[in-house]
Amino acid sequence: MRILVTGGAGFIGSHLIDRLIKQGHEVLCLDNFYTGTKRNIQHWLGNPKFELIRHDVTDPIRLEVDQVYHLACPASPVHYQSNPIKTVKTNVVGTLNMLGLAKRVKARFLLASTSEVYGDPDVHPQPEEYRGNVNCIGIRSCYDEGKRIAETLAFDYHREHNLAIRVARIFNTYGPHMLENDGRVVSNFISQSLRGNSLTVYGDGSQTRSFCYVSDLVEGLIRLMNGDYIGPVNLGNPGEYTILELAQTIQTMINPAAKLIYKPLPEDDPKQRKPDLTKAQTYLNWNPTIPLAEGLQLTIADFRQRIEAESR
Ligand SMILES: NC(=O)c1ccc[n+]([C@@H]2O[C@H](COP(=O)([O-])OP(=O)(O)OC[C@H]3O[C@@H](n4cnc5c(N)ncnc54)[C@H](O)[C@@H]3O)[C@@H](O)[C@H]2O)c1
Repeated sequence: MRILVTGGAGFIGSHLIDRLIKQGHEVLCLDNFYTGTKRNIQHWLGNPKFELIRHDVTDPIRLEVDQVYHLACPASPVHYQSNPIKTVKTNVVGTLNMLGLAKRVKARFLLASTSEVYGDPDVHPQPEEYRGNVNCIGIRSCYDEGKRIAETLAFDYHREHNLAIRVARIFNTYGPHMLENDGRVVSNFISQSLRGNSLTVYGDGSQTRSFCYVSDLVEGLIRLMNGDYIGPVNLGNPGEYTILELAQTIQTMINPAAKLIYKPLPEDDPKQRKPDLTKAQTYLNWNPTIPLAEGLQLTIADFRQRIEAESR
């Protein structure tokens, strides 16, 4: 198949492309390189199965493809909040453009949505039926509400134009290729300890998160795209850790002497997040398989290599 991956030079997109090309597909990687980097996909440059398109999804584009994985959108608060209006445009105009593209060529369309559609949830763990507790005027709203309308658009294209859609609600995912400066908790703690700095814990560290290793997530996305269930479906790891536990695990793995420092919690920071995976298990026969310690080792090795290369 010929497959379009928007946001393909980003963290998740680049791992997805690796898998798709290895499966024998032809891949078009579309990216504006806002948070993505050529480094993530450079090993495919020159390969006849790979094509790189520098393009912004907020502008329309015509391409002939069989499937669209729509991932283009900055995912970390640091980046999506630095230009919130652009984040809304990417989610709304960008998703409209990519749905239009899929409709024209009758391609199957998968939206990378997020657990952020649940906001600061008052139901725990979160099943897909839960409608969320989202602030529509806060600093995270450009992303949370942007993704909610992106889901709405996908379902409206499905109902109105019979477009084959798939909607994945992705929970915290980590792994190699994450940006070091993205402010996400795993990359923060790893780069702070590798650089010999203190680890910054926001709040008292009792808020919990679940962390899914990227290869597990990619497997879930591919199963969703190629199965019959349209979603929305939660994809993530239900193993729940407090932020303090994560900090201490990374501290022990990299630099037991590193100190922890505490800062106030950012606005609207969710206190708990954990996927209910019943649908992913039932319809995709999917479960995450990589334990946190193993995924962290692989991620630390990648960060270490990049930080060492920088100082050479
Ligand atoms: N990583 C996670 O934990 C997580 C969790 C939930 C949802 N998601 C979703 O998965 C997708 C990929 O996330 P990621 O972690 O790989 O983030 P990322 O920032 O590494 O990747 C996003 C990619 O999209 C590109 N991009 C952004 N705006 C664009 C635009 N207007 N036009 C073209 N390209 C654009 C960026 O340059 C980047 O390569 C995003 O849609 C994100 O919302 C990720």
